[in-house]
Amino acid sequence: MNDHPAGSASDSITETGIERIEGRDLCGVDELSAADTCEILRAARGLSAHLDAGRTPVPVLHERVVLSMFNEASTRTRTSFEIAAKRLGAHVIGFVGDASTSLSKGETLPDTVRNLDAMGIDVIVVRDREDGLPGRMCAWVRARVVNAGDGRRDHPTQALLDALTLVDAFDIDLTKERPFSGLRIAIVGDIDNGRVGKSDTQLFQTLGADIRLAGLPSILSEATGERLGAPVFRDLDAAIEGVDAVVMLRIQRERLASDVRLPDPITYHRDWGLDTARMSRIPHAILMHPGPINRGVEVDDAVLEGPNSRVLRQVTLGIPVRMATLARACGVPLETLDAR
Ligand code: CP
Repeated sequence: MNDHPAGSASDSITETGIERIEGRDLCGVDELSAADTCEILRAARGLSAHLDAGRTPVPVLHERVVLSMFNEASTRTRTSFEIAAKRLGAHVIGFVGDASTSLSKGETLPDTVRNLDAMGIDVIVVRDREDGLPGRMCAWVRARVVNAGDGRRDHPTQALLDALTLVDAFDIDLTKERPFSGLRIAIVGDIDNGRVGKSDTQLFQTLGADIRLAGLPSILSEATGERLGAPVFRDLDAAIEGVDAVVMLRIQRERLASDVRLPDPITYHRDWGLDTARMSRIPHAILMHPGPINRGVEVDDAVLEGPNSRVLRQVTLGIPVRMATLARACGVPLETLDAR
């Protein structure tokens, strides 16, 4: 049920002649203004209230087809998108670009994706190791494209669910122009090799938050801080002083260059881990972590399972965020979702 209504003046035609409708794909957080973000978050908050109350959402994606293409490992994002799609009534088709597909016979990824698109898919949710693949895919397919994490670059729905976690924790008014104004957030760990630190920084800044980045020079360069327009701290205690929230990130060992030298896990935890002593100095702050977590490295068990942790709440809020994102991709007006 691939829907392609007549485009508006702000829509675009790619070099390959594929029409893109403004505001339907989600390849990166830089596509979202503060107003767009608040619209998605309001819809997700409304859906979250329905889900928390045990109510069944209206199946606004009935008969739609969502292709869940994960070419890189995932636990949370993949499952969350699939549950979100099913909760809205969509059919979900899983695709992993491995030896079970014709990619193993030499077919290129663009040809594979074009063939899948020709079957009448509405949305492709894609995770890949390659930076920028979701954006390039927009030129290959008529289906809407939603980025579920591309390489070191971007993870827009993680940033949206992290934003919703802050809204939920601090009861933030989403009708304001810059609703995160006055909020101080420290983002700690491997920002160079990960995507969540970058996406969170950009999206939280769009909403008006004051962001501090903290980490070792080998995983958080000054250049990254400059590019993101956020100060870089080389001392965790200084970075978290007076903050409302701390986002802890794991070291992306699978993406580290072979010549990067890091301390052993015990030393890293001593210098860069969030433990009870550090948490006790910011008793009103919340802990967030996108997962997967390396317990005892970036966060200790007591903090992870303590009263300030919102880590599992983040996972829960991922479902309504992805429901809103998929509805947006299919052209369902978000204000109608919010009102149901
Ligand atoms: N946060 C996140 O992207 O987790 P997964 O890699 O398990 O999807």
